[in-house]
Amino acid sequence: MSNRQPPIESLEVEDRVFPPPEQFAARAVATSDLVAAAAADPEGYWAAEASRLEWIEPWQQVLDRSGAPFFKWFTGGRLNASANCLDRHLAERGDRVAFYWEGEPGDAQEITYRDLYERVCRLANGLRELGVGKGDRVAIYLGMVPELPVAMLACARIGAPHTVVFGGFSPNALSERIQDCSCTAVITADEGWRNGKTIPLKANVDAALESCPSVEAAVVVRRTGGEVTWAEGRDHWYHELVERQAPACPPEPMDSEDLLYILYTSGTTGKPKGIVHTTGGYMAGVASTHRQVFDLRDDDVYWCAADCGWVTGHSYIVYGPLANGCTGVLYEGAPGFPGPDRWWRIIERHRVSILYTAPTAIRTFMKWGTDAPAGCDLTSLRLLGSVGEPINPEAWMWYHQHIGGGRCPIVDTWWQTETGTIMISPLPGITSTKPGSATFPLPGVGADIVDEAGTSVGLGQGGYLVLTEPWPAMLRTLYGDDERYLETYWSRFPGLYLAGDGARRDEEGYFWLLGRIDDVMNVSGHRLSTIEIESALVDHPAVAEAAVVGRADAITGQAIAAFVTLVGGVVGDEDLIGELRGHVAKRIGPIARPQSIVLTADLPKTRSGKIMRRLLRDISDDRQLGDVTTLANAEVVREIADMATAARAAGQEE
Ligand code: WT7
Repeated sequence: MSNRQPPIESLEVEDRVFPPPEQFAARAVATSDLVAAAAADPEGYWAAEASRLEWIEPWQQVLDRSGAPFFKWFTGGRLNASANCLDRHLAERGDRVAFYWEGEPGDAQEITYRDLYERVCRLANGLRELGVGKGDRVAIYLGMVPELPVAMLACARIGAPHTVVFGGFSPNALSERIQDCSCTAVITADEGWRNGKTIPLKANVDAALESCPSVEAAVVVRRTGGEVTWAEGRDHWYHELVERQAPACPPEPMDSEDLLYILYTSGTTGKPKGIVHTTGGYMAGVASTHRQVFDLRDDDVYWCAADCGWVTGHSYIVYGPLANGCTGVLYEGAPGFPGPDRWWRIIERHRVSILYTAPTAIRTFMKWGTDAPAGCDLTSLRLLGSVGEPINPEAWMWYHQHIGGGRCPIVDTWWQTETGTIMISPLPGITSTKPGSATFPLPGVGADIVDEAGTSVGLGQGGYLVLTEPWPAMLRTLYGDDERYLETYWSRFPGLYLAGDGARRDEEGYFWLLGRIDDVMNVSGHRLSTIEIESALVDHPAVAEAAVVGRADAITGQAIAAFVTLVGGVVGDEDLIGELRGHVAKRIGPIARPQSIVLTADLPKTRSGKIMRRLLRDISDDRQLGDVTTLANAEVVREIADMATAARAAGQEE
C-alpha cells in the first residue's frame, strides 16, 4: 500500500440533519457558552465540574502530568463515591425514588434514596464483619437485582475495589478475573432469571472458586429460592448477614487516586484486560457527562437498559445517575419476556423520559416489528441514547420514528470501558445530529483522527481515532500490568491515546465511527470499513441485521463476505441476495458489492451484543474455529459455517 493512501476510505454519504428541537435548545443544560469555556480552559472546566461533588478534603492540583501517561487528577483531594451517591441526597431528596426495579417474573420494588442508603450501609457493615477492608478486592457476580448496585456502593463505601463480572459469564471467565486481582470475597445469588429460565450463579461460583484460593467469603442473595450447595464457613446468606447490621456506616475517606473499581474487558487476543478506574476523576467525569449528555432535569425518569456487568452500567446506571440524585429504572430480565412489548410497558408504567440502549437491542426490536411499541404509550420519552457500536443510519431512523415518535433527539455516545465516560456525543440542546454520527468531542475532551504517521488527517478523511488530552475518568493502568497499558494505548503514536477504532470526519467536522481497526478490510487495495457496507445492507427494507468481513481472495486481496438476517416474515432466496448485492453497489459503489451473502437466522454475538466478526472471518476463510464459549449464541456458528461453505462455492462460480 502506498503512503499516500488514506488509512481508511469512506464512501458512504449520509445527508439527513436533525437540529435540536426548540424546547431542548431553550432549556438546555449544556450550552454553547459552556463549550466555549471548556475549549478555552479544559482544566478549569473539569475543576468546575468536579466541584459539584462533595469532597472531604479539597484537591491541591487538578491534573498532574508528571508521570505521563500515568496521569493523576485532583491530587490531594479526598472523597467517597458512595457518600456522593447517597448521603448528600438524604436531606433534600431522601424520599425520592432512586430506582424503580422490575424483576423478570413481574415482581417489583420502589427503592428510595433513603432505602438505598440503608441497604448499602448494612451490606458495608456486613462486609467489614467478614473481614473485608480498605483495598481488598471483591468480585460481584449477580443478575440485575437491586443487590447489584447495592453491592457496588457498599464496596465503594468501605474502600474495597469491586470487580463486577457479568452474570452470563462462565465459571472459567469468573475464576480468571478473580485470580487476576486476587479477590478475597464474592457476592452472588442462588440463581438469576433470564428469559423465563434460571442461571445457576451459585453453582458457577462454586466451580470457579475451586481455582481461587484467595477467596475467603461468599455472600449469597436468595433470588429464585433454587437449591444450592453450601460451603460452611465460607458461604453466608446475604439476608442473614445484613439483618444483623446497623443501617448506618461511616464512609471511608478515599484519596482521589485510590482504586474505585477494576472492570475486565476482553481484547481480541490474550487474557482480559483489568481496566483500572480511580475515585475523584471518575466520579467527576461520570456525574458531569451524565448531566450534560442526557440534559438531566429534576423530573426525569431515566432508564439505561444496560447490565451493571458492563461499564455502561457502572457509569450510567450507578455512579453518574446516583451522584446526580436522579430517578432511574432497573430491569432484571430479557427484552422479549414475557412478550416483545416488555420494554415499552416499562416505559409506559414508569413514565420514562430518557432511554439509553445499544444498537444491537434496537435492531432486535426492528426485527420484531412495530406493533409492540405502537401498542404502548411512549409519549413520556423526550431523549434517546445509543452506545456500544456504530448505529446504522437505518436503525437510528427506526429508533427516532418508532420509539421517539419523531420528537426525541438521539445522542449517539462513543466511549469505551477504558475511557470511563462518554467522549464523543451530541449535546442534545445544541448539536444538530446526523444519523450514524457520534458528532463531536464533549467539552473538555480532545479527539483527532490521524494517519499511519500520526499526522492529523483533513476533513472528509478516515484514519485512526486518538484522544489528544488526558481526561478525568480515563483508565489509570491495566491491573498489575503497566507495560501492557503503555503498549496497548500509548506506543503507536507517542503522546496520543490510541482508541483502536477507525473514524472519519465529514466536511463539517462530524465524527463517524467506522468500527474496530481490526475489522477493516482491504479490497483491491482499498481499505473499506465494514460498518458502512453493513449500514448499506441494513438500509434495505428486507434486512434486519448485517455483518460484513473480508475473506482472503487470491485476486482482490480480500473479498467482501456478508452475513444477513432478514426482518420478520421476509423469505430469502437467490433473487433477494442478488438484489441486496446490487443495493450495496448502488449506495456505496461497485467496489463495495459483497461477493457472497449468507442469509442466517442469527449472527454470532458476544454477550454484550457486539457482532463477532473475527469468528465470521474464520468461517469465511474456512479456518478452524477457536473458542466460542464467550458467545451469547454459540449454536448459530455451525449453521452459518455450513451455509458459508455453500455460498463460497456459489460465489466463486461467477
Ligand atoms: C468500543 C468500546 C462504551 C460502553 C459500551 C462498550 C465501540 C462504543 C460506540 C458508538 C461507534 C462505538 C467502539 C469502542 N463503540 N460506542 N457510539 N459508536 N462505536 O464498551 O466494550 O469497552 O467497547 O465499542 O468500537 O472502541 P466497550
